[in-house]
Order: sequence, then C-alpha cells, then structure tokens
Amino acid sequence: VNQDTLLTLIPDDLTPEEQQELENIRRRKQELLEDIQRLKNEIAEVTSEIENLGSTEERKNMQRNKQVAMGRKKFNMDPKKGIQFLIENDLLKNTSNDIAQFLYKGEGLNKTAIGDYLGERDEFNIQVLHAFVELHEFTDLNLVQALRQFLWSFRLPGEAQKIDRMMEAFAQRYCQCNPGVFQSTDTCYILSFAIIMLNTSLHNPNVKDKPTVERFISMNRDLVCIYGQLSLLEGWLLKLGGRVKTWKRRWFILTDNCLYYFEYTTDKEPRGIIPLENLSIKEVEDKKPNCFELFIPDNKDQVIKACKTEADGRVVEGNHTFYRISAPTAEEKEEWMNSIKAAISRDPFYEMLAARKKKVSSMKRH
Ligand SMILES: *[C@@H]1O[C@H](CO)[C@@H](O)[C@H](O)[C@H]1NC(C)=O
Ligand SMILES: *[C@@H]1O[C@H](CO)[C@@H](O)[C@H](O)[C@H]1NC(C)=O
Ligand SMILES: *[C@@H]1O[C@H](CO)[C@@H](O)[C@H](O)[C@H]1NC(C)=O
Ligand SMILES: *[C@@H]1O[C@H](CO)[C@@H](O)[C@H](O)[C@H]1NC(C)=O
Ligand SMILES: *[C@@H]1O[C@H](CO)[C@@H](O)[C@H](O)[C@H]1NC(C)=O
Repeated sequence: VNQDTLLTLIPDDLTPEEQQELENIRRRKQELLEDIQRLKNEIAEVTSEIENLGSTEERKNMQRNKQVAMGRKKFNMDPKKGIQFLIENDLLKNTSNDIAQFLYKGEGLNKTAIGDYLGERDEFNIQVLHAFVELHEFTDLNLVQALRQFLWSFRLPGEAQKIDRMMEAFAQRYCQCNPGVFQSTDTCYILSFAIIMLNTSLHNPNVKDKPTVERFISMNRDLVCIYGQLSLLEGWLLKLGGRVKTWKRRWFILTDNCLYYFEYTTDKEPRGIIPLENLSIKEVEDKKPNCFELFIPDNKDQVIKACKTEADGRVVEGNHTFYRISAPTAEEKEEWMNSIKAAISRDPFYEMLAARKKKVSSMKRH
C-alpha cells in the first residue's frame, strides 16, 4: 500500500488529538526510513572494507607463495643458498627443527638436494639431520621397512662420509624407536648398510660385482631374517625330489645368490636353501611343462652343495646332482630363468661393508 493510497484512506474529520497522533506516526516512519538508509550505508562501507582487506591479504599471500616457490627453486640448485634465502625473507625460522620440518615435508624439493643438505658436515646441518631423523617414526617397523621409509624422503648422497653420518643417525633413531631389537647401534648401522648395498646391487643392473648371500649371511646373521624382503623374484614352482622322484609344490624365493624354498608362503624357515654359486641353468624337456634345471657344469655326478630341513626339523645336506623345476607358465619359466641367470653371474660388493665394519669397530676402540 503506497503513501497516496494511505492518504485517501484517512478520513478528513479527525479530532486534533487524532491529527497529532497521525503526525507522530508519520514522523516516526520518516525516522525509521532514515535509520534504514544509514544502516544500508554502513553495511556497504563495511562490506567494501572487508573486500579490500581480503585483497590485500590475498596479495600478501600470493607474494609470499611466490617467494617460497623461488626459495624452493634456489634450494634445488644450491640447498644452502635456498635455505638462506627463505630465512632472510622470514619464510622459514632459522632453527634446526623448522628446517628439518621443511625438508621432511619436502614439497617441491628435489630429493637429491635434500640428501646433499642433510649430508653436510657443518655442525648446524648435523643438527638439522638429527631433527629430520627424529621426525620419522620407526616404532614396530622392521629394519627394511624403516629404511625404505627413511630413504624415501631424500636421495642418499654418493659420498661415503655423508652416507656414514646419515646411517649413523638412522641407526640411532631406529634403536630409540625399537629398543631391544639390536644389541648396539653399531649392529643396526652395519646391517642397515649391508641392506642398502645388497639392495643396490640387486636392483642395479650396472653392478656386476654382486655379493654372495652366504658371505653376507656369515657377516650378518640377522640378514637371514630379511631375505624375503629383498627377494628378486618369488612364486610357486614344482620341484622334483632328489632321492624320491616326486614333484612337490614349493614357494620359491630368489635372492641375490640363493634360491630358498618353503612349504607355505608364511613359513619363517625355508625347507631348503640352494646356493647358486658355481651352478648353471638350462631348459629341459620333461613330462611336466616349462622345466629348467640347475646343475654343476662339467660334473654330472657331483652332489650340489645345498641344505634342506627334514620333516623332523633336522637340517641335512641336499642330495641333488641337479635341481629340476617346473614353472606354471612359459612366461614364468622365462622370468625365473632370466632372474637366476642374472643372479648367478656375480662377485662381492661386500668388501665395502667389511671396510666399514672395521671402521666402526676401530671407532669403538678409540
Ligand atoms: C642460522 O643459524 C646458524 C646457527 O645458529 C648460523 O650459523 C647461520 O648463519 C644462520 N643462517 C642464517 C641464514 O641466518
Ligand atoms: C634433482 O637434482 C638432480 C641433481 O641436480 C637431477 O639429476 C635430477 O634430475 C633432479 N630431479 C628432479 C625430479 O628434478
Ligand atoms: C631397494 O631399491 C629399490 C630400487 O632402487 C627401492 O625402491 C627400495 O626402496 C630399496 N629398498 C631399501 C630397503 O633400500
Ligand atoms: C664353488 O667353486 C669354488 C672353486 O671350485 C669352491 O671353492 C666353492 O666352495 C664352490 N662353492 C659352492 C657353493 O659349491
Ligand atoms: C643320496 O642319494 C643316493 C642315491 O641316489 C644314495 O645312495 C645316497 O645314500 C644319498 N645320500 C644321502 C646323504 O642321503
């Protein structure tokens, strides 16, 4: 109802009191309209202030993000300079913990650069390294799992002294998270080192000099427990018996220089261990499909050095002059043969470990 309509509705014969009352109502209405306008203006003002506030905040943020991105780029080219840039621009606090967090998050950072920074000899970098290692949680992880997690967060530098500092810090942290697993941090350190070297040689086709598993095991008996985690290949195969010529289904695991077989995938102890040293491999025809054979070249009757566990738990020497194995498919046969061939051509990397072991024991003495 608009004002004119309202006016026509007002009768002309109002008493003076009624006239006064009407006047009051009109004034009140006018005041209310003015109040509303004032409020509208205020709202508009505040809204525009908020908008301005937002855009300056945004601009600041954008500026900051740009600088952080620049810092990361600098870090990837020269880690020390990158960190310095971030600190000087108030983008990172100059404490070992803050820097460690930044590296641990690793967003936009090259893992090689992270490894280089953490490996530096500088007192401060060593503090950062320790803070960085502390950010990793290794509780209830086995050593291989812990190493995998640790080595995922950066790339190990090539320099032996850097690796040494890092593995030392790793071993300390692992033992702190898992008290009682190792007698000493040194044992943990040596085993970690051995795992890395073994793993490197397993996965690196350029490493010709591969360690023999027996040598590793003789040096690091703990390693026996983890061969499964370092396997090159595993799967079900049929194996022909040595004395009794029956085919048995076994779970085979190929590691660096040994073939292990288990009755069940979950067994902790293998039923048999076949060191691959001095053996050759060839395809053979049999009633079973996809067969291959491990044998000693030029020596048909010699028994292959190997061991197996009897049903009663005794470990005895094997009695095979050859091992005949049948794979489920032609592809799997190829894969097994190729992997075993690759595993057979080898020699130890283990001297590096031996040197390190000596170093650690001489450090202990001094
Ligand atoms: C950070 O602190 C360390 C030691 O507290 C110092 O050596 C280094 O120069 C500082 N870095 C920067 C960029 O301020
Ligand atoms: C990281 O840096 C290394 C060495 O500077 C370089 O070879 C590598 O390609 C870089 N990685 C990435 C993902 O940029
Ligand atoms: C072993 O090497 C492979 C390939 O380089 C890598 O993916 C894996 O994390 C390594 N494992 C350990 C325990 O170092
Ligand atoms: C391999 O051959 C060498 C040299 O004949 C011998 O010393 C070594 O014991 C053999 N290893 C195995 C596992 O048969
Ligand atoms: C190995 O098998 C042969 C027969 O093939 C047998 O004469 C010999 O006694 C067996 N050796 C062992 C240790 O079982």
